[in-house]
Amino acid sequence: MAPPIEFEICRRTLLVGTAVSAAAAAAGLTGPANAQTARNGLPVGPQRMSVSLKINGAQRTLELDNRTTLLDALRETMQLTGTKKGCDHGQCGACTLTVNGRRVNSCLSLAVMHEGDEVTTIEGIGTPGDLDPMQAAFVEHDGFQCGYCTPGQICSAKAVIEEIRAGIPSHVTGDLTVPIKVTDEEIRERMSGNICRCGAYSNILAAITQVAEERS
Ligand code: FES
Ligand code: FES
Repeated sequence: MAPPIEFEICRRTLLVGTAVSAAAAAAGLTGPANAQTARNGLPVGPQRMSVSLKINGAQRTLELDNRTTLLDALRETMQLTGTKKGCDHGQCGACTLTVNGRRVNSCLSLAVMHEGDEVTTIEGIGTPGDLDPMQAAFVEHDGFQCGYCTPGQICSAKAVIEEIRAGIPSHVTGDLTVPIKVTDEEIRERMSGNICRCGAYSNILAAITQVAEERS
C-alpha cells in the first residue's frame, strides 16, 4: 500500500534530514547550540516557542516546547482528543487532519511549523446533531467497528474528494486530460495511508464512493 504523495515526500525529506544530521555529528560539525553546551558544560534546551494558528475556525496562540508535535499539541494542550495517536511515526494514518486543506499526518509535524496555518480536525467536521455528509455515509455503511481509525479516515476521505475534484493525480490516475474516474482502485490508492485494524475497508470504500458520486 503506497502512501499519498505528500506523505511520502515528508517521510523522505525527514529521512534525508536525519541522515545529514547524523553525518554532521559523526564528522564533528557541531552547531552553535552544541558549542554553547561545550562552553557551559550543560545541555541546551528544550526551548519554548509561541505559535499562533487557527484550529477549527478559532484563533489560538500556544506556548509550546518546540519539539511538540501538532498531534500532541492538539491532544495534550488543547484537549482536542478526536485526532488519534496510533503508531506515532507516520505509518497508520490515525492522526490525519488537514492543514490549509491538505492531508497531514500530525504525528510527523511539529506544531511550531504551523504559524498562521488553518488546521481542521474531526471536531471541526459536523456535529452529532448535524453530521457532515462523509460522517453520515460512514454511519450508513457501517464504516467503522472500534472507531479508533475513524477520525483519520473521515478527515482523509473528505480531502480525497477534494483532491479528485481538483484533478490532483494519484499513482493509479491515467490520462490527466480527462476527469479522474472515481473507481474503487482510485479510492483505495488514495486512502492507502489510513490503516483500519478492524478491517472495515469495504464499508469505508462504500461510504466514500457514495459521497464522491453525490458530489460529482
Ligand atoms: S499516529 Fe500518526 S501515522 Fe500513526
Ligand atoms: S474501526 Fe477499528 S481500527 Fe478501524
